[in-house]
Amino acid sequence: MKRLPIMFALFASLLVAGCGGIQREPRDAYMPDMAYSRAYETYADHSDLRDSGISYNSMPVPGTVSRSQDMIFHIPKDVLGDTANYIASRAVQNPLTFLTGMELQEAERLYLVQCAICHGTDLKGGGPLFASGKFTARPIGFLGDAKYEAMPDGQMFYSVTYGKNQMGPYGAQLNTKQRWMVIYYIKQQQAKGKSGNTDSSSAATKPTAGKDTVGAAQK
Ligand code: HEC
Repeated sequence: MKRLPIMFALFASLLVAGCGGIQREPRDAYMPDMAYSRAYETYADHSDLRDSGISYNSMPVPGTVSRSQDMIFHIPKDVLGDTANYIASRAVQNPLTFLTGMELQEAERLYLVQCAICHGTDLKGGGPLFASGKFTARPIGFLGDAKYEAMPDGQMFYSVTYGKNQMGPYGAQLNTKQRWMVIYYIKQQQAKGKSGNTDSSSAATKPTAGKDTVGAAQK
């Protein structure tokens, strides 16, 4: 028990000695990789590379595209009275050629949140805002109107991005990918609508098939 104060004094003096002076550099680094990064980090000091004659400017390789820019739309908005860019946008393809089930669900959700109030949940143009009489410009129908069924994805994208007459632009509400997703959804519904007609005709033939099977069962 007598040793306790001595040990305490020893410990305290070690503690005090450890606090002396400002030590910026580690002394003996027994794991130097932890003290000095071997990877060439973007904002690290690379003077050692330059000193040894290696060119390094911390910049990405020319032509590098950031992840958020990979679906960028290069067509600018037409100046008032001009339609050249609007027409040129017809040639732009939807970069999304396939959506997974979950992405499609998300595309439908975005459509229902941002567009259905005017264009309708059934895509026929009579959404609740227009039906209420508060919005007087008639929103177009994506289904049942040959002009919009034939409208290329790129031109839809142009109008959704920059607006069209009474329809405002949606570039601020939906990012580039989301806008393409919504257009993918519209196009898919249009294709479904068309095959839906053949579906209904095949549905019309179904009862016959049903009868046949009934008939077969009766035979
Ligand atoms: C506030 C009502 C309203 C909302 C919300 C709305 N639209 Fe429209 N949209 C319109 C009207 C009105 C037109 C017809 C514009 C015209 O040609 O005069 C239109 C036209 C369009 C056209 C055809 C453009 C063209 O070039 O002729 C597309 C495509 C379209 N809308 C897509 C969308 C999409 C996608 C959304 C959701 C992100 C959306 N709209 C949201 C009212 C709306």
